[in-house]
Amino acid sequence: MKILDIQGRTGHSTLAIGERLGNLSNYIPENTVIITDGHVRSLYQDRFPPCPVIEIGCGEEIKTLDTVQTIYQQLVELEVDRSWFIVGIGGGIVCDITGFVASTYLRGVRFGFVSSTLLAQVDASVGGKNGVNFSGYKNMVGVFNQPEFVICDLELLRSLPQGEVLCGLAEIIKHACIEDTAMFEFLEAASGRALALDPDAIERLVHDSVVIKSTIVNRDEREQGERRKLNFGHTFGHAFEKILRVPHGEAVAAGMVAASALSVKKGYLSPEDARRIETLLESVNLPTRFSVSGEKVVDAMRRDKKREGDVIHFVLLKGLGKAVVEAISLGELEAYMAEPDLF
Ligand SMILES: NC(=O)c1ccc[n+]([C@@H]2O[C@H](COP(=O)([O-])OP(=O)(O)OC[C@H]3O[C@@H](n4cnc5c(N)ncnc54)[C@H](O)[C@@H]3O)[C@@H](O)[C@H]2O)c1
Ligand SMILES: [Zn+2]
Repeated sequence: MKILDIQGRTGHSTLAIGERLGNLSNYIPENTVIITDGHVRSLYQDRFPPCPVIEIGCGEEIKTLDTVQTIYQQLVELEVDRSWFIVGIGGGIVCDITGFVASTYLRGVRFGFVSSTLLAQVDASVGGKNGVNFSGYKNMVGVFNQPEFVICDLELLRSLPQGEVLCGLAEIIKHACIEDTAMFEFLEAASGRALALDPDAIERLVHDSVVIKSTIVNRDEREQGERRKLNFGHTFGHAFEKILRVPHGEAVAAGMVAASALSVKKGYLSPEDARRIETLLESVNLPTRFSVSGEKVVDAMRRDKKREGDVIHFVLLKGLGKAVVEAISLGELEAYMAEPDLF
């Protein structure tokens, strides 16, 4: 097991990577309520400590203020007061909702997470962002607040569908690309083990990812500049998601290939390193290219809520492990899109 102590600006968080859900009772006070989804509950309820459970549904559609409201209602019925603790057991959706509920109910009660998906372990439960979707916009309403602890039980990952594993792997590869060449080389050597969820390989990758994400977030907790690096592959990715309705991880994988190609065109990244990124993604069975017109992609970016006026902040690579954020105008982007090989 690896323990990481993260001191964020909005609080202190302990991450236990390789800890077991069965040991959760060592981390929580007697008065604790669990929030989980129906799927995770049916798989793992026998490992939960004996606490009241609030169950929510599954899927992005339930990440709403309506769900938050039904949870508040149940907390009131359970007579939960500020001395209580709330723990979310589940993937990114459960963690995002739990963090938001705990931060707002009675103006804030203590909370922690047991992350049960690879994406939640390497991304969603790190960084202190909690929130819900609103009126069709993702993560529109939320707060910055750190969970007291995050347990990453690697054994829970064994029941994940392959598609969910790939979503986590895409973010892991992203972390290596933007910040850590040694991790990238490890991934190249151990991609098969990572895909097979080999415990040692996954423990190292979850650990390295959490270190990278939390370090970047600590330098910039509220997303002014540095935190934008975590969006590598996401500007193209969100466009692919919107146009093609592909899963987030797949869209980000192809988005990283497109952002690498743009970095090559700008003379920042060598074609060999861009090829290495694509090969690594291919080796874990992530898609690297989609057939979609540049026009449609620019159009989707134009409608991106992160656009600021006429420019979009792109994360480009100036070599493996070295991300830079650069404002590119939509006009310049259109010119690049007209050239072949971008995606
Ligand atoms: N807060 C952040 O910084 C941040 C960062 C990235 C993503 N997110 C959010 O995270 C969400 C996506 O997270 P996710 O991919 O974990 O989705 P999710 O929570 O929906 O989990 C995916 C599916 O896997 C199931 N599941 C969970 N654990 C399982 C297990 N151990 N075995 C089998 N099935 C299991 C869930 O029931 C669900 O059906 C999005 O809403 C996204 O916005 C937040
Ligand atoms: Zn992502």
